Amino acid sequence: MSRVYVFDHPLIQHKVTFIRDKNTGTKEFRELVDEVTTLMGYEITREMPLEETTIETPVATCKSNVIAGKKVGLVPILRAGLGMVDGLMKLIPAAKVGHVGLYRDPETLQPVEYYVKLPSDVAERELIVTDPMLATGGSAVAALTALKKRGAKNLKLMCLIAAPEGIKMVQDEHPDVDIYVAAIDEYLNDHGYIVPGLGDAGDRLYGTK
Ligand code: PRP
Ligand code: URA
Repeated sequence: MSRVYVFDHPLIQHKVTFIRDKNTGTKEFRELVDEVTTLMGYEITREMPLEETTIETPVATCKSNVIAGKKVGLVPILRAGLGMVDGLMKLIPAAKVGHVGLYRDPETLQPVEYYVKLPSDVAERELIVTDPMLATGGSAVAALTALKKRGAKNLKLMCLIAAPEGIKMVQDEHPDVDIYVAAIDEYLNDHGYIVPGLGDAGDRLYGTK
């Protein structure tokens, strides 16, 4: 069973409040998503393996740690997941980026895949899949399935806000994938929107409606 981590750091919680607020405009929304993603990235990288190296400080020779050569890949689910890439790239600047294009059909709420482009060595990378919203879970499950079909083995899912229904679907379909979120909300409404949520993440990030 995949584990679910809720990042309750006060800075994350504070910023999520303003992300949710309907009076927050596009520019500020985008900046806040970027900032929260960096803060979540700090937590998500906590278990990265280290290796010892030897360096010369101006004073002495010493042993010190660096990140072991783990290959990381970021995979935003288009469109809204793109808003979380730069925030992670600040911490992991050498990460390669794959893209999975999905949209949720507004009538059926089923995900429709329209684009997949991944680094060629995807099987060797530790992949962080990003999407601000985990609602029914259909899009995340489809993205994870698309990645595994192309060889991905080591996957994490990072979202800002999740509904219990989406968490359950990912846990049922991809029990090997841990889920990292800033908040778990109450339920989905009749249109499949997370309540209280933040509305339509893509529209709020890109100013569309
Ligand atoms: C949103 C969101 C997720 C999906 C979540 O994308 O960014 O990808 O809905 O819903 P689900 O868990 O029920 O599948 P949307 O389909 O609106 O596409 P967009 O990012 O292109 O706006
Ligand atoms: N997609 C969104 O952008 N918001 C939701 O609440 C649900 C799906």
